[in-house]
Amino acid sequence: MKTRITELLGIQHPIIQGGMHFVGFAELAAAVSNAGGLGIVTGLTQRTPELLAKEIRRCREMTDEPFGVNLTFLPAVTSPDYPGYVRAIVEGGVKVVETAGNNPQQVLPFLHAAGIKVIHKCTSVRHALKAQSIGCDAVSVDGFECGGHPGEDDIPNFILLPRAADELDIPFVASGGMADGRSLVAALALGADGVNMGTRFIATKEAPVHENVKKAIVAASELDTRLVMRPLRNTERVLRNAAADRLLEKERRLGAALTFEDVREEVAGVYPKIMQEGTMDAGVWSCGMVAGLIDDIPTVKELVDRIMAEAEEIIRGRLAGFVG
Ligand SMILES: Cc1cc2nc3c(=O)[nH]c(=O)nc-3n(C[C@H](O)[C@H](O)[C@H](O)COP(=O)(O)O)c2cc1C
Repeated sequence: MKTRITELLGIQHPIIQGGMHFVGFAELAAAVSNAGGLGIVTGLTQRTPELLAKEIRRCREMTDEPFGVNLTFLPAVTSPDYPGYVRAIVEGGVKVVETAGNNPQQVLPFLHAAGIKVIHKCTSVRHALKAQSIGCDAVSVDGFECGGHPGEDDIPNFILLPRAADELDIPFVASGGMADGRSLVAALALGADGVNMGTRFIATKEAPVHENVKKAIVAASELDTRLVMRPLRNTERVLRNAAADRLLEKERRLGAALTFEDVREEVAGVYPKIMQEGTMDAGVWSCGMVAGLIDDIPTVKELVDRIMAEAEEIIRGRLAGFVG
């Protein structure tokens, strides 16, 4: 399949694996790139730029295909060494960067000077237009369904994607709720040039996370996510667990008085405990509604091949059939 995204990124299939904290290590990124998609190493999961440089080298040893690095700009108590991370990316010869969170304007000149393509992930048409205006090469449009940070507008992809298609000139991929060939064809029909998947890629053999995480995703239905930290305007979609229930109870009890300190126990530093040790109630962790569409733990290649085969079958069979 050829789209503006496969052309821009030099990949075989229009499927990107979004950056994921404590999931996007070299093993997963390389597996996705080897399967013909674009794998992404999560920059800030590496505590220092030196460690990111090492992770990039590790990924390069596992694949000859292009892969990317995610750089997330979120409010933090102490700001990460972004210039250092950018240096590690540039010196590591990475060709694609997925930015997310705040506007990436400050790092854009350095990335572009190194010939790096920048895909900015955002949750609204206005932020997508801003990304286009500052020179991003593509955007990843993250609907309300998505795992992680859906923003505060709550616009699902059935509206958000055609709105993005109407407004944008640069290529964009649909993110949030994408799981299979049906999702890919629907995303293309709504005007996107491909898909970005997070949660679906966690439930794969190569994802370097504890089996408990994969099993929790398989067991979950589309009813099992919750939105937390809404009163802090830092909304995150997470899988419902004891920590999410506790956090939401605090939100109800404290109302407008809620501060980050009140929820620190449920959100700060919990990812290694969950993703690596499999302590599933150690805190809240991002998960999309798409969990309801995930019933198995295939290899990344099986998953990607299945998506592409199903998409082709739908386009050539079911859809072509409707128009004779
Ligand atoms: C466990 C997890 C961790 C994530 N961490 C990040 C992150 O650090 N930076 C980022 O930009 N997006 C992050 N995301 C969002 C994904 O990259 C992607 O946009 C999102 O998962 C798409 O929605 P989906 O889960 O429905 O596929 C995370 C998602 C999950 C599920």
